[in-house]
Amino acid sequence: MMVDDKVLSKDEILELVASRTWYHRYEVSPGVMTPGRMPIDAKMLLDYYGLPQDLTGKRVLEIGAWDGAYTFEIERRGASVTAMDIQNKDRTGFAVAHRINNSKAKHIQCDVTYLNPKDHGKYDIVMFLGVYYHILHPLLAFQNIYNVLNDEGTVFYSGHILEYSYNIDGLMAKHKPELMAIVDKIPLTLFSRGCHANVWSNWYIPNLLCLNDWLATAGFKVFKQQVHEEGSTMAGAAKKITNFKLAPDWDANRWYDLSSHKEDMKGYKRILFFGAGGRLEGLQEELRQSVPAGAIVGVADNDPAKWGKTIAGYPIVNPKDIPALKPDLVIIVSTFAVEIFEALDKLQGETGLFFEMVNVDANRLLDTSCGREVY
Ligand SMILES: C[S@@+](CC[C@H](N)C(=O)[O-])C[C@H]1O[C@@H](n2cnc3c(N)ncnc32)[C@H](O)[C@@H]1O
Repeated sequence: MMVDDKVLSKDEILELVASRTWYHRYEVSPGVMTPGRMPIDAKMLLDYYGLPQDLTGKRVLEIGAWDGAYTFEIERRGASVTAMDIQNKDRTGFAVAHRINNSKAKHIQCDVTYLNPKDHGKYDIVMFLGVYYHILHPLLAFQNIYNVLNDEGTVFYSGHILEYSYNIDGLMAKHKPELMAIVDKIPLTLFSRGCHANVWSNWYIPNLLCLNDWLATAGFKVFKQQVHEEGSTMAGAAKKITNFKLAPDWDANRWYDLSSHKEDMKGYKRILFFGAGGRLEGLQEELRQSVPAGAIVGVADNDPAKWGKTIAGYPIVNPKDIPALKPDLVIIVSTFAVEIFEALDKLQGETGLFFEMVNVDANRLLDTSCGREVY
């Protein structure tokens, strides 16, 4: 073993290993095992998880690296590795193992909750083994992982699941029949305040349905999943969906009022409103002041009882008549904006007609954390 071009003798390696407390029991150097309580064969396990043998040119982030049991095997496969953990590398054995392996892997002491591309860079692969159930914000962690992955990047993850939790936890064993009745039917997460399987840091234990929903919500497509009944654990792999958006696209076309879009509207010659209800009536004053006179070609509504009548002085028409009106902008003022966007999108596809669409609905609230409507 080389350290700064100095070869470490076996005795020096053994002395370094003995100077730390280890979690993993692994072969840190040929013939030298670390005396941890968790025996692992990193090469065999990484093969099993599906990590490629050749990682030449790949950037890999390993979250929850602890004492580096996987880190140096990933590096041996040719990757440039960054290990991340909340624990101090000088206390865990990581720094010692790094020295023994003459490793170039970088170590960042950080909580995955704060992982971001600006501070921590971008990666082709993220390893997230044995961590998601130990953290207070698992969905946020998967979203952060999404953000640090390059397009087409992969996350490998593993951890406890609810399905066979009766094998490792007394409370779940007591409630096995109730658990079995629903665990494969409903997405569920157990929140355990410091007791699941007698481990204080086992916080959230999801079933597979829930775990897959977390991944889908964070922008991933799961392509591999393996389950172990005995320890009630799983291992999976998922690909980043490029350009994934949690909020629907139409939300980007939201106007909160008409008055601040006075200038935008000047560019349109044929403006159609959609939704002849109280919401449009509430906008009448704004409409008079902001929309160019003579540009409004009508108001479409799905309610046949309103067709042929007027609202704010404009004719209410059947949506089927929209192509004949040839609008270049449709302003949707309705609770059913999502459905109307979809129907108009379809109409454009079928008729070859093109118009811009916006949604004006100042009455509805947004959950700013995800961009969706609160109600
Ligand atoms: C059960 S160990 C898993 C170790 C190794 N990845 C494995 O699979 O054997 C969990 C690891 O995650 C780390 N960890 C826990 N919470 C974390 C967090 N919020 N951010 C980053 N690492 C965390 C712990 O320090 C520990 O190293």
